[in-house]
Amino acid sequence: AVPGKPTVLVAEKLGAAGLELLRGFANVDCSYGLSPEELRAKIPLCDALIVRSGTKVGRDVFEASGGRLRVVGRAGVGIDNVDLAAATEHGCLVVNAPTANTVAAAEHGIALLTAMSRNIAQADASLKAGKWQRNKYVGVSLVGKTLAILGFGKVGSEVARRAKGLGMHVIAHDPYASADRAHAIGVELVSMEDALTTADFISLHMPLTPATNKMLNDETFAKMKKGVRIINVARGGVIDEDALVRALDSGIVAQAALDVFTKEPPAPDSKLVLHENVTVTPHLGASTVEAQEGVAIEIAEAVIGALKGELAASA
Ligand code: MLT
Repeated sequence: AVPGKPTVLVAEKLGAAGLELLRGFANVDCSYGLSPEELRAKIPLCDALIVRSGTKVGRDVFEASGGRLRVVGRAGVGIDNVDLAAATEHGCLVVNAPTANTVAAAEHGIALLTAMSRNIAQADASLKAGKWQRNKYVGVSLVGKTLAILGFGKVGSEVARRAKGLGMHVIAHDPYASADRAHAIGVELVSMEDALTTADFISLHMPLTPATNKMLNDETFAKMKKGVRIINVARGGVIDEDALVRALDSGIVAQAALDVFTKEPPAPDSKLVLHENVTVTPHLGASTVEAQEGVAIEIAEAVIGALKGELAASA
């Protein structure tokens, strides 16, 4: 390590271009897959920490840092794995990469929407198991169907644009979205009630906060149209997963396509993951070559800026 330079701990895989930027400014320690104990042991030697969604940066990490940690960089959008209150109390900034993986997440949402409606994953597994089940895997069409986007931010609006291209009728609910922006891409902003009761497909794009935690639950599933299909590339915690299993079993929800789970990885015997009407991927929304390079550069610039004292506010 070069004395006088700050030290940045990169705790999850980061794209090469971002690492290069960081190395031009700091001593970079890439240590992937640290246990919580190992992270706490290293953190007193670090001025900055960069994580994706796989590392929990709880109060214990800030306490262990002994006040040296000045910035946590989240290589992605969601900062629900970082204890923001503890960061603030310890004078540590939290920065994220708010734009670079927007399109990747939206594309994954569309991939899940189309794969689910045509049973791609199930049919693939069946054919590879030596079967030829053409009658079993009749799908549903998307054209003319109503897609409700819950959370009309960056990702939600990109999903909306793409779904319009598939001929879907797109509505959205978001207490913070402007009607003008929705109007500009031909999306109607509706109440939560209307979104739940009229949608054939519901796609989730809100951050996980106390207000959105388990937003889809027994009560909200009961309001939905029978046979609704759910897509989640946001956060597992916005769905009450036991309630979703009940809604799948009762037929309220015909199918779900999920990239995110309350606990990641989910238990190997998770009823939800193993459900025959559920299509799953392991939190791949941001995982494209292009998005990961972009995110790496975006977070490296934000962390360097924060270490130089250029940033005043947390994410
Ligand atoms: C995000 O919040 O941007 C994603 O969860 C990124 C990731 O895959 O870690």
